[in-house]
Amino acid sequence: MVKASNALDRVLVLEMVRVTEAAAIAASKLVGRGDEKAADHAAVEAMRAAFNELEFDGTVVIGEGERDEAPMLYIGEKVGCGQGTGPKIDIALDPLEGTTITAKAGPNALAVLAIAEEGGLLNAPDVYMDKLAIGPGYETGLVGLDRTPTENVKALAKAKGVQPDEIIACVLDRPRHEKLIAELRSLGCGIVLIPDGDVAGVIAVTNPDTTIDIYMGSGGAPEGVLAAAALKCVGGQFQGRLLFRNDDEKARARKWGVTDLDRIYQLDDLVKGDAIFAATGVTDGSLLEGVKRRKGGCMTTESVVMRASSGTVRWVKGEHFKQN
Ligand code: FBP
Repeated sequence: MVKASNALDRVLVLEMVRVTEAAAIAASKLVGRGDEKAADHAAVEAMRAAFNELEFDGTVVIGEGERDEAPMLYIGEKVGCGQGTGPKIDIALDPLEGTTITAKAGPNALAVLAIAEEGGLLNAPDVYMDKLAIGPGYETGLVGLDRTPTENVKALAKAKGVQPDEIIACVLDRPRHEKLIAELRSLGCGIVLIPDGDVAGVIAVTNPDTTIDIYMGSGGAPEGVLAAAALKCVGGQFQGRLLFRNDDEKARARKWGVTDLDRIYQLDDLVKGDAIFAATGVTDGSLLEGVKRRKGGCMTTESVVMRASSGTVRWVKGEHFKQN
């Protein structure tokens, strides 16, 4: 059982939805307009402005990049108008998870964030992470990144009481996953290949309606921490291992305090203690509906916000009448 944090005041739970709603609404204007950068920029600006109305002493620990790469919401940036007075909060954020999806009006683009007490989130460098996730209700350690995909699928199938060819895996559609996909196909598994958006892909394992049993393969490490925060709230298992393509990436990781480069991170290593996860759909997807612009200037949003210590999950439908 995760202990409730005093710093993560209950009031913050709903405030976080305002923040993701603001980013999603801003990005939604650019859905299908073929401009990834503009969509991302709009979401970043809106999320930053919304954070700065909140009475807390926030630090971005997973953000838009390092200070010299990102003008706003960079790693280390202070947000919130309670600097030095309000509760100290660490923030992982992705104002627009799925920039290409948004540009092409594809599924599952989200505005997403997670908050924890100071020191509660892994300061993940912007490298790849090998990810493995299954939904709730299975024995801890049933699957692991120290085992082959075949071993993991067989163990999961046995625990679920089905044959391996009835297991459905979700994998990012990338050439680097060719071997993994071939191995899963040789077992007869169904594979949901997603073009982008692995935060929603990982969370899909917790929702039986998606039929996805397991998430496998590599994607962004920051997105891994965000997805882990959601699983910490709703249950399920997640493991991550950082992947490095060169010495520069290894140096980045060391700079953010990673000492064991081969470590397999468990959920509680990625997100310690209490946490709040919030997301608003930008485009329709398996987790949330996207922003809809209705006749007469009304916009509707769908968001989810969850807290680890209580396990409460709230689905929030918003109607916004002010023109944004
Ligand atoms: P963006 O929001 O930057 O477009 O990221 C989307 C995404 O698909 C993530 O969900 C995923 O973790 C990562 O990109 C995968 O990276 P790559 O596209 O390099 O395989």
